[in-house]
Amino acid sequence: MIEMDKIVSLCKRRGFIFQSSEIYGGTGSCWDYGPLGVELKNNVKRAWWRDCVQSRGDMVGLDASILMHPRVWKASGHLDHFTDPMVDCKVCKGRFRADKLEDARCPQKPSKQPGQHDACELTEPRMFNLMFKTFIGPVEDDAAVAYLRPETAQGIFVNFENVQQSMRLKLPFGIAQIGKSFRNEITPGNFTFRTREFEQMEIEFFVMPGTDEEWHQRWLDERFAWYPKYGIRKENLRLREHEKDELAHYAKRTADIEYLFPMGWSELEGVANRTDYDLKQHAQFSGKSLEYFDEESKQKIVPYVIEPSAGADRGTLAFLVDAYHEEEVKGEKRVVLNFHPELAPIKIAVLPLLKKNGQIVETAHKLCADLRKRWHSVYDDTASIGRLYRRQDEIGTPFCVTVDVQTVGDDKAAADGKVTIRDRDNMQQIRVPLTSLTSVMEKLLDGGWAEVHGQHGVTRG
Ligand code: GLY
Repeated sequence: MIEMDKIVSLCKRRGFIFQSSEIYGGTGSCWDYGPLGVELKNNVKRAWWRDCVQSRGDMVGLDASILMHPRVWKASGHLDHFTDPMVDCKVCKGRFRADKLEDARCPQKPSKQPGQHDACELTEPRMFNLMFKTFIGPVEDDAAVAYLRPETAQGIFVNFENVQQSMRLKLPFGIAQIGKSFRNEITPGNFTFRTREFEQMEIEFFVMPGTDEEWHQRWLDERFAWYPKYGIRKENLRLREHEKDELAHYAKRTADIEYLFPMGWSELEGVANRTDYDLKQHAQFSGKSLEYFDEESKQKIVPYVIEPSAGADRGTLAFLVDAYHEEEVKGEKRVVLNFHPELAPIKIAVLPLLKKNGQIVETAHKLCADLRKRWHSVYDDTASIGRLYRRQDEIGTPFCVTVDVQTVGDDKAAADGKVTIRDRDNMQQIRVPLTSLTSVMEKLLDGGWAEVHGQHGVTRG
C-alpha cells in the first residue's frame, strides 16, 4: 500500500490539492483543490449525480441552504446527541477524543498513547458538540444563533413535502443532494480524509414502512458496486456493519462501505436505515404533518428512509490512492495515475513533436481547439516529448496525441495527415487520420483501446 505522503506530495506538485492559506503557515486540516483537483472532484460528483439522479426514474435533486432554522438541529437530535467525548492533557496541552485514545499519540512522547506515561495528566472526559456555531445578522445574542449544517440530510427532510408535492412523487422515491457540511472535529487528519469542512453526496430514499430492510440491502449492493465501476479495485473495498453501540441516534442499522486507505480501512460511505425518525421529529417540532397519502391503502403514513451518505472528498481521495502506481520503464521510475477516463481531470494532451516547426505547432493548436469543444484537453510544448508523456502520466491523462513531421509533411515527404495517439496505461501507440480523430477518441474514452488498436496498429514501441 502506498504511503499517504506520496499522495500529498504528488497532489501539491501537480496542482491537485494545496494546504489552505499556506503562505500564512496553513490552516490545520483545511485543504484547497487546485486546478486538477477541482476537475477530479467535479468529475466524481458529476458521475455520482448522473448515476444516482439523472439516470434513475425514482430520484430528484435538491440544493438546500447551509444555514437553517436552529430548531432543525433540536428536532434532528444534533444539539443533544451530536457530541464526542473530549479529554485534555494538562501537561502537553494535547486534546483527544476520549473514545479514540488508542489511535492517538502524545505530542511529547509519540511512542505512547495519551495517559500511558508518567508525565501525562488527562482531564475527565467532557462532551463536546461538533456543530459550528455562528450568528445570523449583526447582533451576537442567543436569538441570532445559527449552526453550519453538520449533514446535508436535514435540508432534504425539511423539504420533504415541498419536493414530494411539487414533483407529484410516489413512494418509493429519493431526494439527492451534494453540498458542504461542517463538523468541528476534535482530531481531524489523514489529509483530506477527515476535515472540518467537507462535501457530502447524500441520498434520502423514502420507502413504505416494512419495505425498508429490503431497500437498505438494495442500496448497499448498489453503492458497493458503484466504486469499482470507476476503477476502485474490489479487493480494496469491504462492508462493515455498525455495532449496536456505535449506531447514530437515528439509525436502526448502518453499514459502512470502507476503503483500504494508506492509514488502514476507513469509511468511504455509510448506508443507514434512518427509519421514520427524522420526518416524525420534524413533524413534532414544526407542527406540520409530514405524512404521505398512500393511494392504494387510502392511509396516511410516515415513510421510512434509507440513506446512502458518501463523502465527496473521501471518494476523490480513494480514487487518487487507487489510481496511483509506480513502475519501472526502461530503467526509469514512472509514476502514473490510472484514472478511469470519466474521472481523469484532463482527457487528452496534444503535444507537438518539434516546437520549432511552425506548421506542427499550428496544426497542434488547431487540433487542441477542436478537441476542447468535446473534451477537456490541453496543449503542452514546454519539454521534450518523453518528459511531456511522463507529466501527463503523472496527472492521469488517458491519451496523448502527437503531431509530427509526417503529419504536416516537409520538402522530403508529403503530409500523411495522421497523428499518433499514445495510451497512458500500456504506452502503446496508434496512428490515425486527423479526419477520424474525434470518432476514434470517442471509442477510446469509452474503453475501446483494443478494438481501435486492432484497426490502426502500432507505429512505435
Ligand atoms: N447524514 C449522515 C451523515 O452525515 O453522517
